[in-house]
Amino acid sequence: MVAPGPRALQDILESQQAKDALRFITCGSVDDGKSTLIGRLLFESKAIFDDQLQSLARDSRQYGTQGECLDLALLVDGLQAEREQGITIDVAYRFFSTDRRRFIVADTPGHEQYTRNMATGASTADLAVVLIDARKGVLVQTRRHSRIVAMMGIRHVVLAINKMDMVGFNEGVYNAIVADYRGFANDLGFSSIHAIPLSGLTGDNVLNPSAQTPWYSGPPLMAYLDTVVVQQDQSRALFRMPVQWVNRPHLDFRGVCGRIAAGVIRPGDIVRVLPSGVQSRVKTVLAGFTEVTQARSGDAVTLTLEDEVDVGRGDVLVAMQAPPEVADQFEARLLWMTDHPLSAGRQYLMKMGYREVTASVTEIKYREDVNTGAHLAAKTLDMNDIATVNLATSAPLVFEPYSVNRTLGGFILMDKLTLNTVGAGMIAFALRRASNIHWQALEINQLARAQQKHQTPRCIWFTGLSGSGKSTIANLLEKRLLIEGKHTYLLDGDNVRHGLNRDLGFTEADRIENIRRVAEVAKLMVDAGLIVLVSFISPFRSERRMARGLFAEGEFLEVFVDTPLAECERRDQKGLYAKARRGDLKNFTGIDSPYERPEAPEIHLNAGFDSPEVCVDSVLKRLI
Ligand code: ADX
Repeated sequence: MVAPGPRALQDILESQQAKDALRFITCGSVDDGKSTLIGRLLFESKAIFDDQLQSLARDSRQYGTQGECLDLALLVDGLQAEREQGITIDVAYRFFSTDRRRFIVADTPGHEQYTRNMATGASTADLAVVLIDARKGVLVQTRRHSRIVAMMGIRHVVLAINKMDMVGFNEGVYNAIVADYRGFANDLGFSSIHAIPLSGLTGDNVLNPSAQTPWYSGPPLMAYLDTVVVQQDQSRALFRMPVQWVNRPHLDFRGVCGRIAAGVIRPGDIVRVLPSGVQSRVKTVLAGFTEVTQARSGDAVTLTLEDEVDVGRGDVLVAMQAPPEVADQFEARLLWMTDHPLSAGRQYLMKMGYREVTASVTEIKYREDVNTGAHLAAKTLDMNDIATVNLATSAPLVFEPYSVNRTLGGFILMDKLTLNTVGAGMIAFALRRASNIHWQALEINQLARAQQKHQTPRCIWFTGLSGSGKSTIANLLEKRLLIEGKHTYLLDGDNVRHGLNRDLGFTEADRIENIRRVAEVAKLMVDAGLIVLVSFISPFRSERRMARGLFAEGEFLEVFVDTPLAECERRDQKGLYAKARRGDLKNFTGIDSPYERPEAPEIHLNAGFDSPEVCVDSVLKRLI
């Protein structure tokens, strides 16, 4: 085969575009032969150009596991580093085609910790090829991946029972695995599960029917993929388009750009902008720079509107009839994808389409058992857990259930500090419970209350290890403020834990809730016009940041009471460090539970060296 020239390449590209496309993913566990199988599909469909073949032959000799033969796994394993480790560690998208169809395949790794890639690949696929090693049968990993595939909205599964050559093409082995899988997958909601006995290595039932499986009358894998009907066509649904940006090159042109998530749009159609609800009529529909008479689901377009309506990135343009809902509390399914457990109450960055808001899980309703689907109680979620949760967002979102529209119902959660993706979720429905509570506008406001007290309300937030001197310093500060005629209140961790927070312990989740509550109380007190002193260990950056976010600019002062651990331990007024060292007290901050030092506190006190009086002076200086 010779690599095609530019003209021929153009022809190929055009003829490819005209074909119908099938997006699928492959999943399974390590060593089940995924890469070899995909390599064979590519090889057999003649999608490999000469130069790729040559480098393959070279690499095959260097790293291959198949002696002098071509190692087809090397075609899809991609990166050099991965090859050297002998594993695949990222989503690799591959393209091949037959006369009828184009195929886009996401090859996702089998390793337990790479569920993230598998979910990424699944979110845009129409079909999943679930590989099973005939010698091993259905594994936990097979079940986990099948659950994720179902959760991501894939409705069609090809059950590829691979390595049939290794079990002598035994019909009984095949039937037992298929029955086992069907039994498990019964309630996952797949519309089709088609099983095929094959061997990626020998090619049996991959492209051509195998003579080794006279007992199997179905099509080989390629023929099946070529003809399977997986319609997920959204163009018959009502029009929806998340706005990516508004293009305004000069005063006479204003185009709203985005990719259509559902439906069809034509010049003259009336659209509504959500969440604001304003309406306008479409003047022109542009695909690139060309005016078109209509565009449909999947197309990237620029729309010009008749009116100068207010519209921006993150808004959604929708058809007039039956607009999607707008809400700020949801029930959703969530796949947790990172080492650090999810805690209810912690704030994350939520990205849905082009919209970014702050979100927190208000309740973990249940976690799912990977094998049986049973609902299990959970206080936190670990990596790879799938759960149903309630979620609250900082601003209303335009959404549709994920089962109706993947684009308008799918989201990711990111860590606010590192911006790493930590979870992927699918909205099920909006919760109604909070929708009838409105903020009461009261006539006496913070300013009036503060003026009456002749002071500037503040939240002075002391953070530091147990025994660092927070309470001593806060107590002394409050006395000094009182003498000056200020109206104050001191919220102390130990004391608040005797009442309001009596139900909370010292797990990460409980500390998060502890801080959330005290921050809300402090906010009310600042609104009441008080100078509030909060003295809590508050060991996590994320929650201190959350607390800060509740207050107006300048109202919140973070005071880091920085006493070295060794000094706190030496003081050990309550004997708790000794207890923790003996192992009689679990989750003790600084010993077996982390303290995250503030990065930019307003006030940094060297409380291991300076006396409480000196420390109080530095705080007072900042208050005037
Ligand atoms: S926080 O971490 O959730 O902010 P908080 O300030 O409310 O903690 O409470 C800390 C106080 O609880 C400490 O001063 C100490 O007296 C007591 N305590 C009991 N167990 C622990 C523990 N495991 N870790 C830290 N403090 C503890």
